[in-house]
Amino acid sequence: MQTMAIIGAQWGDEGKGKITDLLAEKCDLVVRYQGGHNAGHTIWVNGQKTVLHVIPSGVLHPHCLSVIGHGVVLEPENFLNELSKIKTITNVSPENLKLSSNATVITSYHKLLDAARESQGSEKIGTTGKGIGPAYEDKVSRHGIKVKDLFDKDTLLKKLSIGFSEKAVLFKHLYLMEIPPLDQEVDRLYKLGMKLKDYVTDTFGLIDEKLSLGKKVLYEGAQGILLDIDYGTYPFVTSSSTAGAGIYTGAGIPGKKLDEVMGVAKAYTTRVGEGPFPTELFDDLGAEIQTKGHEFGATTGRKRRCGWLDLPLLRYAIKCSHLTSIALTKLDILSNLKDLKVCYAYEVNGKIIDCAYPGMNLYEAKPLYKSFTPFHDDFSGGKPSKEFEHYLHFIQEGLGIPVGIYAYGPDRNQVVFHQKYF
Ligand code: GDP
Ligand code: IMO
Ligand code: MG
Repeated sequence: MQTMAIIGAQWGDEGKGKITDLLAEKCDLVVRYQGGHNAGHTIWVNGQKTVLHVIPSGVLHPHCLSVIGHGVVLEPENFLNELSKIKTITNVSPENLKLSSNATVITSYHKLLDAARESQGSEKIGTTGKGIGPAYEDKVSRHGIKVKDLFDKDTLLKKLSIGFSEKAVLFKHLYLMEIPPLDQEVDRLYKLGMKLKDYVTDTFGLIDEKLSLGKKVLYEGAQGILLDIDYGTYPFVTSSSTAGAGIYTGAGIPGKKLDEVMGVAKAYTTRVGEGPFPTELFDDLGAEIQTKGHEFGATTGRKRRCGWLDLPLLRYAIKCSHLTSIALTKLDILSNLKDLKVCYAYEVNGKIIDCAYPGMNLYEAKPLYKSFTPFHDDFSGGKPSKEFEHYLHFIQEGLGIPVGIYAYGPDRNQVVFHQKYF
């Protein structure tokens, strides 16, 4: 096994950071390929918490090369701040952290535009407000600024002014907002560019070289498949390809294929921001899971909405990204609950549906639940209870792929392996 992907199988925050950090120990490279600092990936090691936003979650293993691929949208100031913070915890240098010269830059205008749109009540997506959508829009409209453009003031001014004239009209006449003048933004970005220049390289070529040397590569997804721009619950999605396809466009696996694609899923479901959520719990149990699971966004601090595990959505995620196994997290949060359920299918207009599909109207889906006898495991090393095994078996059978890892606490070591990786 040489290449593996770790992808969120729900609406993000499934525990990708923890699982990536865990497996990174055995890898040579950890690669981010999409999204930006909208991501918040949490790692706990010996009681110390680290939250990563755009730096890959292999960074706590200094032997591991961290790569930010060209599909990522990068906010230079945030990147440099994250870098300074992480340098206080572990050894990071241009030797073991590489940023693609072709990644797209998030400018001040993108952030302001994101905020302006979100403040217009009716069309609210509940974004993280980081400028992700507007930056990807500029990339697709071919007005994007690339990291390599930061190193030459004239190029930067020329490229930034193309999109600026349109944006200036929007801000002035639609959003009635003042924005930083073009010269000021060029100066700001240029200065930031100079500070990150040493980390910048052709990451595609680098991954190609490492793969041909037999190095092991772990691709770390951000967000989750249900937030994918094409496969997700559009329009309540992020603006990148969070499903497996994003790996091929956002970083590349030159000359190779993925050997293993692990989907990370919580044993229940959470969602931040707006959008449909068939198994959402509005009762005391939902509130209990939210509190017990500390379900607050790692990037924005917003409360995460909570609900039961949803197999029709997970089966869909498996098909979208050819998932080969699942890491099931946060089982400790379900232990000792007074009620335990899993949604195994939906009823939609009198029909039973056991797998979602692109564009499905999830507001029409009535979840059908199987109830389980609650388990009371503390996972401290003893044999799992019959109730827990029954529950896990049902999920595994219902998904048709193995639960290769399950997690029962935030710490790196609070996991049980059912399958060997690398
Ligand atoms: P990511 O975005 O997928 O990396 O996930 P986040 O870091 O945003 O959110 C997952 C949260 O759950 C973090 O606070 C993790 O520390 C925590 N976590 C991960 N796995 C487990 C687990 O098995 N049990 C508990 N209690 N917490 C976990
Ligand atoms: P990680 O990688 C959970 C959600 C936002 C919003 C929608 C669009 O930590 O799992 P955006 O700012 O991307 O335009 O917001 O996507 N969202 C996430 N939800 N985890 C994330 O990342 C998310 N990144 C974006 O809440 O609903
Ligand atoms: Mg997160």
